[in-house]
Parts: sequence; structure tokens; C-alpha cells
Amino acid sequence: MNINELVNSKNGDLIDDLTGWVDSIRDHGGLTFVDLRDFTGAVQLVFDKSGEVDTKLKNEYYISINGLFKKRNKELINNKIFLGDVEVEVTELNIINVSKTLPFQIEKDIDTDENIRLKYRYLDLRREPMKVNIMTRSNTFKSIRSVMNDLNIFEIDTPTLIKSTPEGAKDFLVPSRKSPSNFYALPQSPQMYKQLFMMAGFPNYYQIAKCYRDEDSRKDRQPEFTQLDLEFSDANPSLVKSNIEKIVKFVFSDAYDCKIDTPFKSLSYKDSMNLYGTDKPDMRITETLNDITNLFNDTEINFLKDILENGGLIKALHTEELLTRKQIDTLDTDIKAMGSNGLGWFKIDNKEITGPLAKLLQDSEKLEILKLGSGTLLFQAGDLHSIAQYLDFIRRTIFKPSSNEMYSFVWIEDFPFFEYEDDKLQPSHHPFTSPKDNETFKNDPINAIALHYDLVLNGVELGSGSQRINNPDIQELVLQKWGLSEEEIEERFGWFIEALSYGTPVHAGFAIGIDRLVAEVLNQPSIRDVIPFPKTQSGLDPLTNAPANIDEIVLEEYNLKYINKDE
Ligand code: AMO
Repeated sequence: MNINELVNSKNGDLIDDLTGWVDSIRDHGGLTFVDLRDFTGAVQLVFDKSGEVDTKLKNEYYISINGLFKKRNKELINNKIFLGDVEVEVTELNIINVSKTLPFQIEKDIDTDENIRLKYRYLDLRREPMKVNIMTRSNTFKSIRSVMNDLNIFEIDTPTLIKSTPEGAKDFLVPSRKSPSNFYALPQSPQMYKQLFMMAGFPNYYQIAKCYRDEDSRKDRQPEFTQLDLEFSDANPSLVKSNIEKIVKFVFSDAYDCKIDTPFKSLSYKDSMNLYGTDKPDMRITETLNDITNLFNDTEINFLKDILENGGLIKALHTEELLTRKQIDTLDTDIKAMGSNGLGWFKIDNKEITGPLAKLLQDSEKLEILKLGSGTLLFQAGDLHSIAQYLDFIRRTIFKPSSNEMYSFVWIEDFPFFEYEDDKLQPSHHPFTSPKDNETFKNDPINAIALHYDLVLNGVELGSGSQRINNPDIQELVLQKWGLSEEEIEERFGWFIEALSYGTPVHAGFAIGIDRLVAEVLNQPSIRDVIPFPKTQSGLDPLTNAPANIDEIVLEEYNLKYINKDE
């Protein structure tokens, strides 16, 4: 039997075959107390040493016992724990399996290096907080499937040995013995296949899909992660967004017992950048950026003059609190480490302005700054895209989320179609996204807007989606403007453009990062904490030692040879 089933027992009941792990052992002279733990809970066992029961137990031995169910004496009741008012007096002990000495204790809070926890993940998962994380993940899957059934959205699977899908990362490649010199790619997402379902006539689709991206791991990124992936035929962004709101609302209520308000707020990409310095604003923080460019129109501060003459602007955050010099210096060091030239600041106190640039201020500028009220004015000058990340960082560091809102969702929309990444033009979503206006896209693709929408939760990009291109000519045009040659287009996407050419319905979709969702709900520092077997920051699995070296003989079978580029 399991420990939870003890709730139905009465004083004096015989307990038969109660199994679990030895969680802790306390020796009290003639009696030994053992906390027995299983998936459902924990209970105190009492071993009377004068009896015949052997108590040579150690932590994490897996045991089975027979015994007597007892209500504890009043003075021994522990009301803080489940089953803290009962115990089982052991009459028979069977050690099912012993345990080696543990690499770390199976306790709530441990201070063990993450690599060790991942090497022994099966032990780490025995710890209560990890169990809660994984069960919350499991409940998320369950609620998703339930709401999908209610909404009559079809679960359909897609292949994972495929040709490359561009989602902005590098592919994981899989060699094929039967096709030497050719490789499959693991899907970065099921994007093109879900669109093929719409072309094939299915009205909708969803999948809890594994996606693979060979990119640097971070706290919110893993090389292998899980999406709730969706697509709808005859759909537009508002239909997709309203479906996503229904799904998210249901999952929060069903899996997390939490009511959230819909519809979610919306912001254009432009407003988001202007007000928050990011397209992933944490809306629980109410303070926004101020544009103080006009205040310095006639400035005599040389570096500001130069920036303004080159079309730059000055964005500021104003705290009512007077920050200490130490706080200011720390912010300055932090943003310099991110690439900023440094933090501009003024302190406004008792109608007096102080700071390294204060003596260069003209009287009119001083008057305007004083109007902002006492406190600290922190600023960055330059073009918005280069200073935005520092302003976002400062905002999230100096202001705290307002406590009355635990989860704050916001749609971000009207993204630019293209953005520059390492001086290369990249679609800000993916190249299957429909431009908002095809004519503008044809004439001025750099300034075109995409029908792309993101869902942001507490400053984290939870999901992303778009209206898709359903016209083969527009699809080809987008690939051309992206910079692909006719040959590349034909080789990489010819089959997809062909598929679009047989009466493709209007369609749109979305994908939610399930790992990010669960991590955010549980307020975990990294998505690694909600993934049963994640990879380390360097993309390794310390448990199995993957990725692993392959024998030369095996490589030969795949027509592969390892070349050490450093030699
Ligand atoms: P996108 O690439 O924005 O869109 O991914 C959708 C969501 O998936 C999550 N995500 C990740 N989670 C963990 N680790 C990663 N490396 C990682 N990369 C992405 C994020 C993100 O918002 N095919 C499109 C969706 C569509 O257009 O329908 C796509 O994959 O939460």
C-alpha cells in the first residue's frame, strides 16, 4: 500500500506491505523512529528495539513493512505535516533494496552543484521541490489535452527526421547510413508540417512537440525543448489570440488553480520599445521610460550634442528614491559589462541637482529636470535599438513588480518584418510570416511590418505566432528579400512553394514554450528546473555523458570522418 492510503486507517488497524524509502532515522534509546517516504507523502514508523525487528537501516533503503496503525499521543502530534498525528508501529520489516551512500541528501533545500544534481537526476527528482515541478509539468500536459478536446482541436504528430526548418538557430543534424553525405535535420519547430496540414484540408492542429535548436543554452533556453504548437485554417491573428487566451486561461485554472483575466493587454512593438526598452516587457513593473531628448535640444554637454546631431535620443528612468552612489556605480558597471558606454545620472534633492554632468547644465535644463521631482534620473543616450537593452535592465533592476499582480500577460504585435542580426537581415519571426501589407513589403521590405504576435508573461516571451503566407508568389518574394538566391530557394523551399500552389487556405498559428510556462508559474530561476532531464549550459547531459564520442568504425558506416580543426 502507499502512504496516502493510510488516511483511511483507524487506530489499531493492521498495516500490510507499506512500501517506501527511508527518509530519516532518529534513535531514541529503546525506540527508533524512521520517516518513511513515498511519492504520496511521508509517515513516521516506530521500531521497538526490544522486539524482533531489525532496524539496521540507512537513508534511501527501499523497504516494506507490516505493522499497527496508531494515533499519536496528544503531546507527540505534529500538526505542521500531513499524517503528523499518526504513526505505524512496525511488526515486520523487509528490506527490498539497500542504497549506496548518497551524493547529496534528499532534502528540500540543498546547496549542491547543478552538474552533480544532473548527474544523479533520478535522485534529484526524489526531492520534494523537484517532484512538485515535474508534477506541475505533467498537470500542464493533462490540462492542455483536456482543453484541446473541449475546443475540438486535433492532436496530430509530425516527423522529427526532416529537412531543415529555419527558426533562427542552427540545426542538429542526423547522418543517414543509407544516404551517404546526406543529413536529416531535427525540427527547430514543426512549422512547415503544420502548415501542410492546413493545405491538406485539416481545420486545425495541435501537438506537444519536441523542438531542437543548436544554440547556446541560457536560463530560458535549452537545445531540446517542448512547445504547445498550434495552427488554424481560415484564421486570422484575432482568432488565434482569442483561442490562445481560452487555452491559457483554462490551463491556469485547471493545472495551477489560478484565475487570470482575459483578454490580455496589447502593445505594438514600437510602443513596447519606447515605453519599456524591450519587446518582452515585465508589465508588473508600472514605471516606464521617459523621453527626455527635448530637454537637451540646446545642450552644451558634448557627447549628448553629438548623439542628438546624429539623430539619437535620450531615454530616462526616474526613481522617487535617491539612489546611493554605490547603487549607481553597480548599475554603471553592470551595463558597461553588457556593452554600454556608461550610465548618465542626476540626483535631484531639495531643488539641487548633483552628478558628474550637473555643472554642465544650463539654467533652463535645470528647471526642466527639477520639474521631474526629487529622486534620481538615470539615462542613456543613443539610437533606441542600441540603448534599449540597458534601459530595460536598469528598469528591471531598480523597480520591483507591483505585488497585486502575480501574472501579467501582454500581446506584442506589429513587429518589423526584418531585423538585423550580426549585420545580416533576418525575419524577426520566420520567413513563413505574412507581411501586413504586401505592397509595402515589395517596395520597402526593411520598413515592412509583419503579422507576427508574441505573448509575453512577466517579462518572458512565452509564445510566438503569425499569420502565414498562403500565396506562393509572396512566399518566394519574402525568401528573395531575405537574401536567398533562386537556387537556394529552389533547393531549400521549392517543395514548400509547390505545396502552397494548390489552393492553400488562409491560415495562422502559434506556439507556446511549455518549459518557460511551467518555470514562470513556479517562479523557478531556470527552465532546467522544470525539465526532467535537461542539458547543462554547455549542452551536455552529465547523467549519460551525451553527446558521446563515436567509434571510427561506426563513423565509417555513416561515411563520416572526424576532423580536428585545431590540429
Ligand atoms: P518561436 O521560435 O518563437 O516560434 O518559438 C515559440 C516559443 O518556443 C519557446 N522557445 C524555447 N524554449 C526553450 N528553449 C529554446 N531554445 C526555445 N526557443 C523557443 C519560446 C518561444 O516563444 N514555429 C514558430 C511558432 C509559430 O509561428 O507558430 C516558433 O517556433 O517560449
